Amino acid sequence: MMQCWSSQAEYAPIPVERAEGCWIHTTDGRRIFDLRSAHECINLGFKHPRIVDALKDQLEKVIYVTDDFATEPTGKLAKRLAELTPGSSSKRVYFAQSGAGAVEAAIKGARLYQYNRMFHEGGLKASDAPGQYPYPYKIISRYKSWHGSTAGAASLSGDPRRWFQEPLTVPGVVFAPEANAFRPPFGGPDTFVEENLSYLEYLIENEGGNNKVAAVIVEPVVGSNGIIPAPPGYLAGVRAICDRWDLLMIIDETMTGMGRTGKLLAIEHSGVEPDIIILGKALGAYCPLTAAIFSEKVSASFEKNIFGHGQSYSGHALGCAGALAALDFLLEDQFLETVQSKGQYLESKLRRLADKHPCVGDVRGLGLFYTMELVSDRTSNTPLRKTTEKYTSTIIREVSEFLFKEKDVYVPTDKFGIWVVPPLIVSESEMDWFTDAIDVALDFVDARLNQ
Ligand SMILES: Cc1ncc(COP(=O)(O)O)c(C=O)c1O
Repeated sequence: MMQCWSSQAEYAPIPVERAEGCWIHTTDGRRIFDLRSAHECINLGFKHPRIVDALKDQLEKVIYVTDDFATEPTGKLAKRLAELTPGSSSKRVYFAQSGAGAVEAAIKGARLYQYNRMFHEGGLKASDAPGQYPYPYKIISRYKSWHGSTAGAASLSGDPRRWFQEPLTVPGVVFAPEANAFRPPFGGPDTFVEENLSYLEYLIENEGGNNKVAAVIVEPVVGSNGIIPAPPGYLAGVRAICDRWDLLMIIDETMTGMGRTGKLLAIEHSGVEPDIIILGKALGAYCPLTAAIFSEKVSASFEKNIFGHGQSYSGHALGCAGALAALDFLLEDQFLETVQSKGQYLESKLRRLADKHPCVGDVRGLGLFYTMELVSDRTSNTPLRKTTEKYTSTIIREVSEFLFKEKDVYVPTDKFGIWVVPPLIVSESEMDWFTDAIDVALDFVDARLNQ
C-alpha cells in the first residue's frame, strides 16, 4: 500500500479487527476513539445497524448497473437530494466516487453551462467577448481551501498540496483571499468581511467579469485548512456578487455536509441558495459515493446540450442504499438538533480548555466540527508554522502521538491545531473523556512552549 501525502519508508498501518460506534478495535486488543470520524466520512459511527441492514438488503438485489438503467436507491437518493438541498427541487444530480471526482464534475458543469449560455442560448454577444478565449472559463477559488487531489480539483485548491501538481496545474483558476476572523488576510475584525468581498468583486472585474469568469467555489466552513466557519454575511455577500456578475456559486460541502455542522448542509446556516452543491465523504455512509447537484437553472442548460462528463460506477446502487439509510437516520427524531446541542456542549468544554491553556489561540467551529488552533505566543497569535512549512513537523505531531499512544485517541497529525471531529453519535461521557485527554496533552504543550 502507498500512504497518502507521505514518504513510504516508515509507513506502518495498524491492523484492525473491527470498528463499531466511535471506536476502532485493533488486532492487538486496543480500543481507539476515532476523533476524525475516518477522514470525516463516518458521521454515524462505524457499523451503524440501520446502514448495515440496508447494505445487506441491497446486496441481494442489484449492486451496480450503468446509468442506462435506474435502480430504486439511485433514483430515490437523487430525488431526495434534489428536494432536501436549498432551491427548487427541479435539480439534477451527478454521482461520483470521491470528493475530487464530484468537484471535477462541478467545475466542468459550470464551464459547460457558460459555454452553452454563450454559444447555444445567445446570452452573450460576440462583441462582449472579443475573441480572446472562447467562453467564460475561469473559476475563482480561495486561498486556504482544499477541493481534492485530482488534477482539476488540486488546481482549485489554495493549499500547499497543490504545489505537487505544479507546474502542470489546470489553467483558469484565480485565488481570492479566505475569510478568517482569527487571521484576516487584510482588514480588521470589524471590516475584514466587507474588504474581502470588495476585493472579490475587484478580482472578478479585473479577470474579465462574466465574459471570462464562470464561477466562484467556496467551502462554507473551510475544512482541511483549519475549520474556519464563514463569518456572518460572507456567504450572502458572495451570492450577491455572483448574482450581480451572473456567475455561478459552487458550494463544496464534501466535509461539512450530512449533518456535520448540525444542519443537513452547512450552507443552510446562511440561507443562501447555491447553483451547484458538492457532497462527498459522509454522503455514502460506508461506500465511496459523492455528488454534484446542479440547480434548476444549471441543469436546464443540459436539457438539449451534452453534459460532457462521466465515470464508471457512477450512481452505485449499494452506495445509494447506504446513503438513503443514513439520510433517514439523520433526518428523523430531531437527530440534527441533538448534533447542535452536543456541539454547544463540546464548544463549552473546549473554551474551558482554552481559558486554562495559553497555547490555545482560538477555538472555532460549528456543530460537531471544531478545532483548537495552537499558537506559540498568544499575545501575537503567532502560528506554529507558516504555510510554506506545511511539511515541517510541529509540536502537534507530538500531541497527536501522545493522544494516540497514551490515551487511545486518534487525531490527525499534520494540522496546526487539534481537530475535534467525532462521529455525530458521540455521547456526552465520550466527550468528557476525550476532552480530559486533550487537557493533559495541552499541559504538555504549555510546558514545552514555555521552556
Ligand atoms: C472540501 C473538500 N472538497 C473535496 C475534497 C476531496 O475529497 P476526496 O478526498 O474524497 O477526493 C475534500 C477532502 O478532504 C474536501 O475537504
